[in-house]
Amino acid sequence: MMWKYIRRYLPYAILAGAFMIGEVSMDLIQPGIMSQIVDDGVLGLKTGGVGDLDLIWRLGLQMILLVLFGGLCGSLNNVFVHLSGQNIGNDMRKDCFRKIMTFSFPQMDRFGTGSLVTRMTNDITQVQNFISQFVRGMIRTTMLTFGSMYCMFRLSRAFGYVVLCVFPLIIAVMAVCMKKAGSLFTKLQAQLDTVNSIMQEDITGIRVIKACVREIYEKLRFGKANDELIKTQLRVLIIFAFMNPVVNALMYLAVAAILLVGNVSVSAGGTTPGSVMAAITYTTQLLNGMLMLVMIFQNISRGIASWKRVRVILSSAPELVDGEQNGETAVKGSIEFKDVSFAYPGGQTVLEHIDLKVNPGETLALMGETGCGKTTLVSLIPRFYDVTGGAVLVDGVNVREYRQTALRDKIAMALQKSELFSASVQENISWGDPEAGEEEIQSAAKVAQADGFISRMPDGYQTIVAERGMSLSGGQKQRVSIARAVLKNAEILIFDDSTSALDLKTEADLYTALRKTNPHTTKIIVAQRIASARQADRIAVLENGHIVACGPHEELLASCPAYQAIYQSQIGEEDDNHE
Ligand SMILES: Nc1ncnc2c1ncn2[C@@H]1O[C@H](COP(=O)(O)OP(=O)(O)OP(=O)(O)O)[C@@H](O)[C@H]1O
Ligand SMILES: [Mg+2]
Repeated sequence: MMWKYIRRYLPYAILAGAFMIGEVSMDLIQPGIMSQIVDDGVLGLKTGGVGDLDLIWRLGLQMILLVLFGGLCGSLNNVFVHLSGQNIGNDMRKDCFRKIMTFSFPQMDRFGTGSLVTRMTNDITQVQNFISQFVRGMIRTTMLTFGSMYCMFRLSRAFGYVVLCVFPLIIAVMAVCMKKAGSLFTKLQAQLDTVNSIMQEDITGIRVIKACVREIYEKLRFGKANDELIKTQLRVLIIFAFMNPVVNALMYLAVAAILLVGNVSVSAGGTTPGSVMAAITYTTQLLNGMLMLVMIFQNISRGIASWKRVRVILSSAPELVDGEQNGETAVKGSIEFKDVSFAYPGGQTVLEHIDLKVNPGETLALMGETGCGKTTLVSLIPRFYDVTGGAVLVDGVNVREYRQTALRDKIAMALQKSELFSASVQENISWGDPEAGEEEIQSAAKVAQADGFISRMPDGYQTIVAERGMSLSGGQKQRVSIARAVLKNAEILIFDDSTSALDLKTEADLYTALRKTNPHTTKIIVAQRIASARQADRIAVLENGHIVACGPHEELLASCPAYQAIYQSQIGEEDDNHE
């Protein structure tokens, strides 16, 4: 799957590789020239002990040119490495975002916001680093390692065997450390998830934290998560902190062995001092290559751990499979629950055997004590969740058979928790219908009883709403959400307790206006108050996951004990308002 992303930027990666080869080749050629300068130029081994200044100049100039060329290759390599790494990361981030947008609600719940944000930011950056390191480092280290080894064998067999003996030891040390660190990296990212989710929750909920004087507790909770993260980070650092000196020691062991072998060999006339010098340079290059490999391996094991987490997002299949129906139906605005049962994933059954039919143009109020499943019931209509038993039909067609966009086009919904975005009030309302003009937006706001307060704000409809609607009162937020739903002008309008923060008069005005402007819209109104519900054609009462009664206000008042109880508890409030 990663290949899919790499393939797109393969030319960059190949160019990067080519320039890398150029850079390393220069590194490999240099010690050879150096040894020639020493042996022939300075010591004059071939000319009977007479040095050759000319040769020194010539070879010196050659070396400078090679260094310059190598440097140029190095810079160009860097450019192309980053071009491929950044682009790949960018594509992954976009794909992840698109994928998350297709997630069903249970999928979102399962990941959690904190984890999704970490995966899209930190994890993708790790993968990006990993790719850059891989393109840059792998070629460099492989070439340096094997090139140096080859050159050493060419200088002298004995030198070659010395490094060949040390090499497997170094690889073994690295393998052990990698294995230990690999699982830690997975843990590290998971802990980062926790830290991020706490941070997110606490920053968005800062008002509640202050109101409940929970600062100390939250600080401790955050501190604890952070400490755990750091503990793991330290463990990783310790592993690599031990690995570096061990690798170093092994390499210097090799240098010592070469000096020893070289000493014997030079005395016996088997090799020259220049070659010994070159061999030591190659060994240090090999060491550099190895140390780089250590860093790369860190990045690789971390990158792989992160890639696994990113891949989970990218490879998640959408849980809600789209149907074929494009929304063209004979009936418009009917809803039917047929023997519907529902349980949240891993949770208890919330709804059981619900049978309910709402006719086009009808207004149905849904009542029941808090937590009884009203929000759950209405979320099944736009298919936010799939039923676990039975079927929900909209306009006579099972909601599973619709394309999701076609189904949701039929439904306008004001959610129980009004969510606004940091944009102008006008933009927030126009989410209901992006093509609506200013006038339509205003008339929707009038129906929602929001026009008054919006016009009174200094910038009117252009007032920028703070993040999540913080700058508006609860009731104002609700009315902007209602305006958004009204503007959509859909066949079905669902208010999930959307008027709970409005006073009874404003609420009554809203319903009167709505009846006038949208007489044929099917309306479902989830309500806690009798006052909000009594104007509906029928009222359904939900209790213990069942609909225990359904009928007009007067009928329920006469026959339904549950409704009578709610009525009795609110009677004072009612009377106050009707006076
Ligand atoms: N996303 C979810 N995952 C798991 N369980 C949930 C989820 N949302 C709600 N529930 C559970 O389902 C039950 C019904 O919740 P629901 O929100 O439908 O109640 P409600 O009638 O709308 O309550 P209220 O009047 O307070 O808004 C509750 O017991 C709740 O704990
Ligand atoms: Mg609710």
